[in-house]
Amino acid sequence: MIAHTPRVIVPLDFPDMLSAFGLAARLDPRKCAVKVGKELFTAAEAGLVRELVRRGFLVFLDLKFHDIPNTVAQACAAATRMGVWMIDVHATGGPAMMRAARQAVTQASDEMGRTAPLLIAVTVLTSLAAEDLLAVGMTGSLDEQVLRLARLAQESGLDGVVCSAHEAAALRAACGAKFKLVTPGIRPAGAALNDQARVMTPEAAIAAGADYLVIGRPITGAADPLAALDAINASIGAETKVPA
Ligand code: C5P
Repeated sequence: MIAHTPRVIVPLDFPDMLSAFGLAARLDPRKCAVKVGKELFTAAEAGLVRELVRRGFLVFLDLKFHDIPNTVAQACAAATRMGVWMIDVHATGGPAMMRAARQAVTQASDEMGRTAPLLIAVTVLTSLAAEDLLAVGMTGSLDEQVLRLARLAQESGLDGVVCSAHEAAALRAACGAKFKLVTPGIRPAGAALNDQARVMTPEAAIAAGADYLVIGRPITGAADPLAALDAINASIGAETKVPA
């Protein structure tokens, strides 16, 4: 039983199941959640997510669903039945798609007698620059677009958004205290940036209003991943209480 929800989400960014389980075995489900994205989900055998859940991990199934409402709803219901903790969809799928996803998640979890997974939206991919938005016909500034889509997600009944920590304060102000903000692009002071351009430290991201921090390579690439995780948890005052 998890005493309280971890703040750190470790992405299992691996090309195969064996490597993912190798890292999972070196982590502690009481101290972090894990994220399964498109690469691992596609490469791994069926049963990967259920096995992580069985091992006690809170699993963020990061498949960024974007399709017609019925298809996304069915995918979200299937994810809920696998026992995941967090699911995401693209806010640009529109309000009908997000409402259908919300309804499907609620219904599937009610049927199982379980708490519904958190259903969150991706607003604008951080890989997109202003000229990319224009190229796909999105006028207006990037910040406006992020805010517009976050509000739309909230109005459609979603629990939160994935966002840059640099957007967290504005989104917290716009969407209120309960709206979950999940932030990648986090680097402890002095850690290698890798390919992340605009980063924030775990402490600063939490201070800016982030609820959950997606932190990959500073943990997955460390000689001792659990020690790296412990240090990050300590820096944000989020040590989970491990029963004796
Ligand atoms: O290793 P690192 O901490 O950079 O990993 C960040 C994780 O968050 C990766 O899984 C990456 O795909 C994901 N992510 C991101 N930026 C976004 C959305 C997701 O880095 N805007």
